[in-house]
Amino acid sequence: MKKILVTGGTGYIGSHTVVELIGAGYEPVIIDNLSNSKEDVVDKIQAITGVRPAFYKVDILDKEGMDKVFSAHDIFAVIHFAGLKAVGESVKLPLKYYDNNITGTLRLLEVMRAHNVKNILFSSSATVYGTPKTVPIREDFPTGACTNPYGKTKYFIEEILKDLYVSDNTFNICLLRYFNPVGAHESGLIGENPNGIPNNLMPYITQVAIGIRPFLNVFGGDYPTPDGTGVRDYIHVVDLARGHLLALKKIEESANGVYVYNLGTGTGYSVLDMVKAFSEVLGRQLPYKIVERRAGDIAECYADPSKAEKELGFKAQYDLKRMCEDSWRFQQKLK
Ligand code: NAD
Ligand code: UFG
Repeated sequence: MKKILVTGGTGYIGSHTVVELIGAGYEPVIIDNLSNSKEDVVDKIQAITGVRPAFYKVDILDKEGMDKVFSAHDIFAVIHFAGLKAVGESVKLPLKYYDNNITGTLRLLEVMRAHNVKNILFSSSATVYGTPKTVPIREDFPTGACTNPYGKTKYFIEEILKDLYVSDNTFNICLLRYFNPVGAHESGLIGENPNGIPNNLMPYITQVAIGIRPFLNVFGGDYPTPDGTGVRDYIHVVDLARGHLLALKKIEESANGVYVYNLGTGTGYSVLDMVKAFSEVLGRQLPYKIVERRAGDIAECYADPSKAEKELGFKAQYDLKRMCEDSWRFQQKLK
């Protein structure tokens, strides 16, 4: 059984990917410092899959800690999710973001190299495209004009990985640019449960639905989009997790290189489309108010997913209704 080291494996996307890895016959080994997740996620993964993955509370800034994990396990590949991801916080605390995300990745890569582990999938983001000139967004669109330190960490790490490959072509690297993951595992046991006031749309919507917040603030009603609200490519987190299995297969089967894929659905939905779809699942109108635009937001962002479909065989399966149903089930099960 191939062992896959999953950094950030108790987090939102990581935990769903661990479930899929187990289902596909891999042996995931999780490291996470629990800065944005809880250890009981490991119990939930066990409840879903019947398998308890190895878990180490280790920080990716801690070289010795990681070294021990790589010594204890014969790792075939790393899926690197660990990172801080709050856009607004990154503007206030850029050094924290550069240290955690970039220095952390450098430490991880050094330990990988020392243990001769050369396969890595990296969690990048559509944010690397900045404000795209046109949509849908293709992988060959320019990157780097990011509007916040969080986005820049993703761009810089992509560049670091490309330079690493140039220096050592025994590395095999896959950069996965996620669009907007939403939804949860159908069991309702794992999902996204942010601390404090949610930054992202779907967790905010589910908190309004459950009564934690009175209404949704819709950031801007005057964008050049069909209904004036921002358009994004929402992708079910389980589809996204399955994309990682296909990317892993690609790494297993293809020549070494740096591969880049968008993971999205190719369909853009507006904030009001999301409110409508969620209200239908809820069985009542979700309260909302249109307010000022949020600084840094763009009008439209959705993927051209054809490269991932052609080269990985990736195609998202779950529709918006399913994304809303699964997000809502998870929120209702939270204590
Ligand atoms: P998450 O916060 O739920 O998961 C990240 C995990 O990494 C957390 O469990 C956290 O505790 C851990 N972590 C953070 N810093 C660490 C460190 N120094 N050492 C060890 N563990 C550490 O976030 P997520 O939504 O699952 O995102 C996973 C990855 O995907 C991140 O790199 C994120 O930037 C990227 N991404 C997310 C989105 C999104 O909208 N959710 C979009 C694009 C890219
Ligand atoms: N929105 C609201 N109200 C809210 C929250 C969001 O109207 O309370 C709107 C936003 O203005 C935007 C849309 O809903 O139009 C989606 O916003 P999110 O914050 O959920 O997502 P973003 O597209 O802004 O950003 C997310 C992640 C980034 C990642 C990016 C990739 O937060 O880290 O997707 O596309 F880089």
